[in-house]
Amino acid sequence: MLRLQAPLPDRYTRATPDELARWIEEARADLAGRVVILGHHYQRDEVIRWADARGDSFRLARFAADSDATDIVFCGVHFMAESADVLTGDHQRVILPDLNAGCSMADMADLEQVEEAWESLAAVVDIDRVVPITYMNSSAAIKAFVGRHGGAVCTSSNARAVLEWALDRGDRVLFFPDQHLGRNTGFDMGFTEDRMLLWDPRREQGGLTEDEIRAATLLLWRGWCSVHQRFTPEHVEAFREQYPGGEVIVHPECAHEVVALADRTGSTERILEWVAAAPAGSIFGVGTEIHMVQRLAAEHPDRTVVSLDPLVCPCSTMFRIDAPHLAWCLEQLVAGEPVNEIHVDPDTAAWARVALQRMLDIT
Ligand code: 13P
Ligand code: SF4
Repeated sequence: MLRLQAPLPDRYTRATPDELARWIEEARADLAGRVVILGHHYQRDEVIRWADARGDSFRLARFAADSDATDIVFCGVHFMAESADVLTGDHQRVILPDLNAGCSMADMADLEQVEEAWESLAAVVDIDRVVPITYMNSSAAIKAFVGRHGGAVCTSSNARAVLEWALDRGDRVLFFPDQHLGRNTGFDMGFTEDRMLLWDPRREQGGLTEDEIRAATLLLWRGWCSVHQRFTPEHVEAFREQYPGGEVIVHPECAHEVVALADRTGSTERILEWVAAAPAGSIFGVGTEIHMVQRLAAEHPDRTVVSLDPLVCPCSTMFRIDAPHLAWCLEQLVAGEPVNEIHVDPDTAAWARVALQRMLDIT
């Protein structure tokens, strides 16, 4: 999705790292008590060092909701800032330092496509028995669609509980946008491959026959994360060869053949907890975004933490948030001219909140 971020003034693009750090520090001091800076685990070091709270997307949204700050500077991607806006009060403002920090996976399910899929399904099965579930990594418009149609949001740490809830209420689930999280959770719940079919939004009726739709329990939207899809079984094998005593931990956005070989699978927050709780000398091959892996390695020098993929694999949209953008949006706040406010319209926000609240009630 194209969002237009105007180029930054020269003051920021030409500044040295030291100047930027000083400006951020000064602006933060000026805004003390009023602003909170949130940082997702995938952020660069030059950004995360300023975060008042770090976390996965869900934890950060909760942090925003519980915060008294009037200005929330969200160092993450667009859907995270939207969720924070949905969960915060009208007196609070959510700011995304670079408007082009989207999420390619979230963009793979747009409202029009989802509504078309819903209509196609309604022509084949009793639509009141289909429960839509969306991953946190989706736009507020998709979360609102889910809220309106009796479904819920899930995160990478509670997908199983949410899917179980959904299947208590209906016969089948339409799950978007990440096929891998859906499939990995489905396998975890004991479903075989023939019960989990891929819904391709670019094809008529998702590319499925009517019989296939009737037979499916999980209809998995054909979306994926370009960062996590890079990890392969060969990466796992190469790591095990190099580190025979090592443990493989991956994010559930990885393909099932990788998850099946891993020792553990969990959200960014869980991966972090596992490494932090491990004894000195432990060895981990981690399948997630490289900034988080490198930070884990730096923060736990007595453990060996390496990326499963020896070639660097950053999330290019998370990477857009940098010190110049952070300095710029903080200084604009100090000047009383806020920029890059993320505002979800009230109707969308109300229904997205319903879907988010259902998740909270389930888990
Ligand atoms: P977490 O919610 O596990 O932090 O995941 C967010 C994300 O974007 C993973 O790609
Ligand atoms: Fe989106 Fe993947 Fe980046 Fe996460 S790592 S924000 S899912 S593109």
